[in-house]
Amino acid sequence: MDYSQLENKRILVTGGAGFIGSNIVKRLLDLGCYVKVLDNLITGKKENIEEFMNNDHFEFIEGDIRDFNLCLNVCDDIDYVLHEAALGSVPRSIENPLLSHDINVNGFVNMLYASVQKKVKRFIYASSSSVYGDLEKLPKVEQETGNPLSPYALNKKVDELYALLFNKIYNIETIGLRYFNVYGPKQDPKSKYAAVIPLFINNIVNNQKSYINGDGTNTRDFTYVQDVVNANVNACLADSSSCGNVYNIAYGGRVTIQKLYDMISEILGIFIDPLYREERIGDIKHSNADIQKAKEKILYNPIYSIEEGLKKTINWYKKKTNYELNPKSWTV
Ligand SMILES: NC(=O)c1ccc[n+]([C@@H]2O[C@H](COP(=O)([O-])OP(=O)(O)OC[C@H]3O[C@@H](n4cnc5c(N)ncnc54)[C@H](O)[C@@H]3O)[C@@H](O)[C@H]2O)c1
Repeated sequence: MDYSQLENKRILVTGGAGFIGSNIVKRLLDLGCYVKVLDNLITGKKENIEEFMNNDHFEFIEGDIRDFNLCLNVCDDIDYVLHEAALGSVPRSIENPLLSHDINVNGFVNMLYASVQKKVKRFIYASSSSVYGDLEKLPKVEQETGNPLSPYALNKKVDELYALLFNKIYNIETIGLRYFNVYGPKQDPKSKYAAVIPLFINNIVNNQKSYINGDGTNTRDFTYVQDVVNANVNACLADSSSCGNVYNIAYGGRVTIQKLYDMISEILGIFIDPLYREERIGDIKHSNADIQKAKEKILYNPIYSIEEGLKKTINWYKKKTNYELNPKSWTV
């Protein structure tokens, strides 16, 4: 793909102070884009975007996608919207379905309709593997989904339907990216709703026991964040015929949670037996994506295996927290 086509393009990244959004921002700035971030910092952090603050191609607007007038204002003169803002986490949406709906559906429609009104060239948005719900069939292919198992999953499914509909009735180019368990630098390990990889890393280096939900045989298609960044950049440049669609964005493999825990322990050189507890409500048992459609239509080509991605991720946490890898003196 000719990435120079993105030079000087004006791109709005909602949720750009979050984990995935801030990784996308970095790449876009490297490609010479003008990048605007809209984020209310509910889960995002200023420290994720601190490195861009002095870049004159970068602008940060602290604000909420639930404010439609603000959405309209920030879409002024924007070529592409990359909509990452959402309230993530299945358990959080079960605890607070109203807030989840408000941000993930109402906020989504605000951004989508603002993009229509301001004639944004393309609206690319984060969907989720959770839309596959109770469908057990593997691998997951885009056209077949099950019943949602959480408000979060339902929110994302509704978003996809809105994007599809607006593509048809308002002719806005939309591309939905169904992310599968993303991990990598800048993912928050300390939140109550932390994802499993940063959680395990953080527990292990702090000499704490980790819980595995279920017996460890559940599987996930873990996806390194740089592959997700590539998917977003490629989606900007993909042929118009790829629009009005959703695509699985994953590595295209699967690993058990037990194996994941063992791999992280091995890389860190610290071995602590995990504890096992009941499966979590809303969780799916297995997840594994068929990524053929994304490969063909948006030229998505993931390059980071779980082994490689974990090493990069752990190295990043190491630099950030200054802890020693393989600390020989640790007794656990
Ligand atoms: N991380 C994953 O494994 C994963 C998997 C599937 C889908 N996704 C989706 O990818 C996107 C990014 O997720 P992430 O993991 O980076 O999460 P994150 O929580 O780090 O990022 C989300 C960002 O959105 C911002 N935000 C939330 N509500 C907002 C609002 N009302 N107004 C403005 N900003 C708001 C947050 O402050 C945060 O910076 C989300 O849409 C999420 O649902 C993530």
